[in-house]
Amino acid sequence: MARVKNRAAADVMWGVMLLMQMMGLIRSFNFGIGGVDGLRMDYYFMSCPFAEQIVWNSVTSALQSDPTLAAGLLRMHFHDCFIQGCDGSVLLDSTKDNTAEKDSPANLSLRGYEVIDDAKEQIEEQCPGVVSCADILAMAARDAVFWAGGPRYEIPKGRKDGARSRIEDTINLPSPTFNASELIRMFGQHGFSAQEMVALSGGHTLGVARCSSFKQRLSNSDPTLDSSFAKTLSKTCSAGDNAEQPFDATRNTFDGAYYYGLVNKVGVLTSDQTLFASARTKGIVNGYAMNQAMFFFDFQQAMLKMSLLDVKEGSAGQVRLNCRKIN
Ligand code: HEM
Repeated sequence: MARVKNRAAADVMWGVMLLMQMMGLIRSFNFGIGGVDGLRMDYYFMSCPFAEQIVWNSVTSALQSDPTLAAGLLRMHFHDCFIQGCDGSVLLDSTKDNTAEKDSPANLSLRGYEVIDDAKEQIEEQCPGVVSCADILAMAARDAVFWAGGPRYEIPKGRKDGARSRIEDTINLPSPTFNASELIRMFGQHGFSAQEMVALSGGHTLGVARCSSFKQRLSNSDPTLDSSFAKTLSKTCSAGDNAEQPFDATRNTFDGAYYYGLVNKVGVLTSDQTLFASARTKGIVNGYAMNQAMFFFDFQQAMLKMSLLDVKEGSAGQVRLNCRKIN
């Protein structure tokens, strides 16, 4: 019911946006330094006016049959942006001469590629060669968050697709065994503050981790881990390395439950629980656990910032015709 309402609300919002654009009430924000090539909120307004709607429809129809894909789409956008910028590099398939990012161990459990393919196919029918895969992924992740009950934020469009996707680049994804200082350093390299890193980690309000991502916590006694939750994790792992443990009690709902979990020492990954264990980030976790609205606000700001990481504009990239292959 909430989802139907969400959808109706979004449809109304688009109608209003379209009208405001036609009346000239929304100015074109230029986010890049590349002049006419820069990112803009209304980038596809003339060239592919229904692009946003098509992505929303593809995302909602996929999530109606499999709500767990919201997590997949959000994580895929994060892994895209952290490696080579938000340029759709994570979507490229390996070729006989190149092993792509998606075949790295860190990406083998990414899910939702078919949702992007579906949106891309429909968009290509309406406006061939116009809308990049990087933009489609950024919009799909944004829509997945909203569909799951999270905040709705606008993102500028105009990212171009990259041509490089190499397995070795994925070394720059954060490891689930990182402590708070390592996370602060790695996110800092991309221009994020500690607070933004904690807000983005709230993406773990959706989805699951497999045993292989947290089992190292079970072999040596981890004082940051609640002892009865340690038994739950061990039980999950008794079904093997691929057995899944939800990050929080509401795996398909975008809410503040991830942070209450951390406060109660039931975070799944070392990199989750460290945010409460470390004095540098504990106060931020407490704040988000107590105030979901503040988490939503900070999350949407940080997601907008992440969606702009090292974007390729104009002739620095291409618009792929098929998200899995360079043109
Ligand atoms: C802070 C550093 C981060 C680390 C170390 C990390 C690590 C991980 C790991 C190990 C998994 C489970 C993979 C598996 O076992 O198959 C995971 C899942 C996930 N991550 Fe992260 N992550 C981080 C940040 C983020 C961010 C910033 C987002 C998005 C904003 C995000 C979104 C997700 C989602 C939604 C899932 C669940 C995927 C699913 O259920 O398919 N993560 N992450």
